[in-house]
Amino acid sequence: MSQYRIAVIVGSLRKDSFNKKLATALTRLGPPDFDFQTSRIDDLPLYDQDDDTNPADAVKRLKSEIAAAQGLLFVTPEYNRSMPGVLKNAIDHASRPYGQSAWNGKPAGVIGASIGAIGTALAQQHLRNVLAYLNVPTLGQPEAFIHAKDGLFDADGGIGPSSREFVQGWMDRYVAWIRSHVSA
Ligand code: FNR
Repeated sequence: MSQYRIAVIVGSLRKDSFNKKLATALTRLGPPDFDFQTSRIDDLPLYDQDDDTNPADAVKRLKSEIAAAQGLLFVTPEYNRSMPGVLKNAIDHASRPYGQSAWNGKPAGVIGASIGAIGTALAQQHLRNVLAYLNVPTLGQPEAFIHAKDGLFDADGGIGPSSREFVQGWMDRYVAWIRSHVSA
């Protein structure tokens, strides 16, 4: 039985998203006692504080998935030098009502792929700022700014040979980070 449930939040809704593929490939690199489950964010309404007392079912689902997880994995593209709005919307939803944030204390990792040369560095930095406020301890090193170029993925959807060692090394540190924050 899996000991660590990880809620995976992907910041792209695009069908052929590199970041969706990266999330899938990453989960294959985790150990057997880690169970990675992607949390859906595409059916969340736009956050409206007036709804805090009567949240939509999709919001309740997201919050319960986060609550049930021992750790978080954010896999996000960069939009206009920040995180995509859909990701911030999901973060805002699960952070409310005030004092009832689902994120509080959940250890996390942040990674992302972009077609740009600095591959999501600024999106990740903005995301880290938000997570710090939400009391989410986030793996600092290694940073992983993945350049979405030919060969990133192999024919089976795994990480291709040129990036596999680096991404496996990131996953190993992520796993150790989560283990160190969760009491057995
Ligand atoms: C982008 N893209 C982009 N790339 C980047 O490296 N830095 C950026 O600031 C932006 N800005 C940006 C804004 C918007 C609105 C879009 C749609 C795209 C390009 C982005 O890296 C590319 O579209 C990726 O393919 C998005 O990730 P997914 O959807 O493939 O996971």
